[in-house]
Amino acid sequence: MNKSVRKAVIAGNWKMNKTRPEAKALLEELAPMVKDIKTVEVVACVPFTNLETALEATKGTNIKIGAQNCHFEKSGAFTGEISADMLKEMGVEYVVLGHSERRQYFGETDETVNKRTKAALAAGLKPIVCVGELLWERECNITEEVIARQIKLDFYDIPAEDFAKCIIAYEPVWAIGTGKTATADQAEEVCAFIRAQLEKKYGKAVADAATIQYGGSMNAKNAAELVAKENVDGGLIGGASLKAPDFTEIVKAAENG
Ligand code: 13P
Repeated sequence: MNKSVRKAVIAGNWKMNKTRPEAKALLEELAPMVKDIKTVEVVACVPFTNLETALEATKGTNIKIGAQNCHFEKSGAFTGEISADMLKEMGVEYVVLGHSERRQYFGETDETVNKRTKAALAAGLKPIVCVGELLWERECNITEEVIARQIKLDFYDIPAEDFAKCIIAYEPVWAIGTGKTATADQAEEVCAFIRAQLEKKYGKAVADAATIQYGGSMNAKNAAELVAKENVDGGLIGGASLKAPDFTEIVKAAENG
C-alpha cells in the first residue's frame, strides 16, 4: 500500500459557529497562511448562511468550500432543508454527511446518510461521509462491527466510480469535542480496517486511492503524529479549524506527513 497514491485532505468543520463577517475575517486570515500548500487539499465546511461569503472570500485561493449537510430529495416540501443541487449551483464542492452530531441530535440514520450521499453524488458534490463508534461500543469491543456496518449501509448501492469521489472521515464519537483524541495507533487501526472493508467492496485499487480522514480533537499539537500514519489521509477538524494559525499548523503537518 502506498500513501502517495491518495490525496491528503484537511477539512475544517466549523459546525454552528461564525457570523458572516466572522467567517470572512477567518478565511481572509487563513488564505495567505495556506497559499503555498501544494499536496494537501484545504477545505472549510461552513454553515449554510456563510456559504456565499466563504465562496467569495476564497475566490482565487487554494481553499475549497463545503457545506455540513444536504437533503436527499431534489426539491419539494421539506421546510428548512437544503438540496444538493442548491449547493452545487453556488459553487460548493464538498458536503459533510452523517456527522455524529447529526446522527445523535437530528435523527440521522445510515439509511438517510446513504440517500444523502447518493443525492450529493448525483449533484456533482464530493461527500465527506462520517463514521465512528460510540464510547460504549468501543468498550464492548464492537468497534469493527459498528464501522463495517456503517460502511456497508452508508455506501449501499454506490458504484466504485461514484465512491471514488467520496471521502470517509473516521470520527470516534468519544473523541469529538472532548479533548480526548484517539491515539495515532487507535486511529491507524480503524482507518486500516476501513480500507480493508473498502477493498472487499470495491477492490484494491479503489481502496488504496480512498482518502480516509481522522477526526476528533485533532489539533496543532497532535496532528503530525496522526497524519504520519499509513492509513490516515488527513483530518476533519472541529474546534481547531476556528483559529487560522492552529488550522494552518494541521495543514502543514499533513503536507509534511
Ligand atoms: P473537534 O475537533 O472539535 O473534536 O470536532 C471534530 C469533529 O466533529 C469534526 O467533524
